[in-house]
Amino acid sequence: MAKMWQGVTDGVTSKIADDFNSSISFDSRMFREDIAGSVAHAKMLEKQGIIRSDEAEAIIAGLNGILDDLLSGKLAIDPDCEDIHMFVEQVLTDRIGDPGKRLHTARSRNDQVALDLRLYLMRETGEIISLIKQAAAAVADKAEEYKTAVMPGYTHLQRAQPILFSHQLLAYCMMLLRDADRLCDCKKRMNVCPIGSCALAGTTYRTDRRYEAGLLGFPEICLNSIDGVSDRDFALELMSDIAILQMHLSRFCEELILWSSWEFGFVALSDSFTTGSSIMPQKKNPDMAELIRGKTGRVYGNLMSLLTALKGLPLAYNKDMQEDKEAVFDSVDTAKACLGVFVPMISSMKARPENMLRAAQTGFINATDLADYLVRKGMPFRSAYKLAGQAVARCQSEGYTLETLPLGEYKALSDLFDADLYDDIDLMNCVEKRISEGGTSLNSVEAQIKYVREKLSSIKEN
Ligand code: ARG
Repeated sequence: MAKMWQGVTDGVTSKIADDFNSSISFDSRMFREDIAGSVAHAKMLEKQGIIRSDEAEAIIAGLNGILDDLLSGKLAIDPDCEDIHMFVEQVLTDRIGDPGKRLHTARSRNDQVALDLRLYLMRETGEIISLIKQAAAAVADKAEEYKTAVMPGYTHLQRAQPILFSHQLLAYCMMLLRDADRLCDCKKRMNVCPIGSCALAGTTYRTDRRYEAGLLGFPEICLNSIDGVSDRDFALELMSDIAILQMHLSRFCEELILWSSWEFGFVALSDSFTTGSSIMPQKKNPDMAELIRGKTGRVYGNLMSLLTALKGLPLAYNKDMQEDKEAVFDSVDTAKACLGVFVPMISSMKARPENMLRAAQTGFINATDLADYLVRKGMPFRSAYKLAGQAVARCQSEGYTLETLPLGEYKALSDLFDADLYDDIDLMNCVEKRISEGGTSLNSVEAQIKYVREKLSSIKEN
């Protein structure tokens, strides 16, 4: 069949070329946005006297009918159409005749696709922000539930200092808050209307771009028509933000995988979010957490693929840009799927404070506090650090912990040691002494929970 764009060519392409060229299999998901854009365009053309009112009415009624029929399933997407824009225009013209052919006045598929993509991604970005908020709230609830559980904090995956489990969880809340904030920021630059840029140079018709943008809810329009059709920064920004979000989810999931192992035993994931093994009946595998970690890779890949596709393109539109959609849609779908499973996985997770405490009691994680004790008694920190190290070595050779090493042994190392040292190295006291703002003390954790909850209620997804 000859194409709607049949002009100087005969409009007849090979089936192989058609299939290769077609994007309808992945861009048909933007049908709502395509129709909304066309309705606004018809209204603008009418207001400017470019089409007659009866024509505009026929177009708008026709478009609304197509929307209803697509939603109800009465109308199926034709996979042989080149893309969603051609499909809607073709069906409209089949249904209402000549007025349908006037719709494409003063626009081009180049600005149309840029418009549809921005509208579509605005909605999806809002949904991701809402899911991130749910994720952060679920993590904050867990922190509240296990507020006083003490665990070893790690550096280099070596036990370092005692911390509250809730403090560790709240670190992830802070990351998720930044992720949501980044997406809100991304939406500001996405929320700019390209329609009316036309093919690249603008148009000779007396259009009203700002009126059309306003109908679609955009506060601003692209101020350079060449940029309007060439810019995909908003997609790249979204994909970068999703890449950072996934990196955070992946780090958290990595910890959940470690913590739910026999070696740690700090948490137990609910049976509903783990799987068994087909051969080893004792196994409980953290597949969901592993998949979230694994899917982070493809999201990085999507970002790289679009950055690379765009890097050598001359202005303005090039067909290479059709490659933006599968990449950005996959990132959006992946983030939504990961957050969708992350939220209930966290909510249904149980912590094992007794195992955390047992781990915290070994590994001499209160050695810094022992050194601080000597500093308080007047010793310079470097000397105190050395002496605390000697106390640890003594414990290791005699099979003690710092808490059980007899006072006589301490006194043999320094006469600054007294019985009150045991209070200073008590694990809960070690935590409580970390009073600096943002530290691990209970007060600080409570302040953080409050901050997270307040911040969450101030972030608007739409
Ligand atoms: N399907 C195309 C895309 O996704 C629409 C724009 C086509 N424009 C053109 N001049 N061929 O990018």
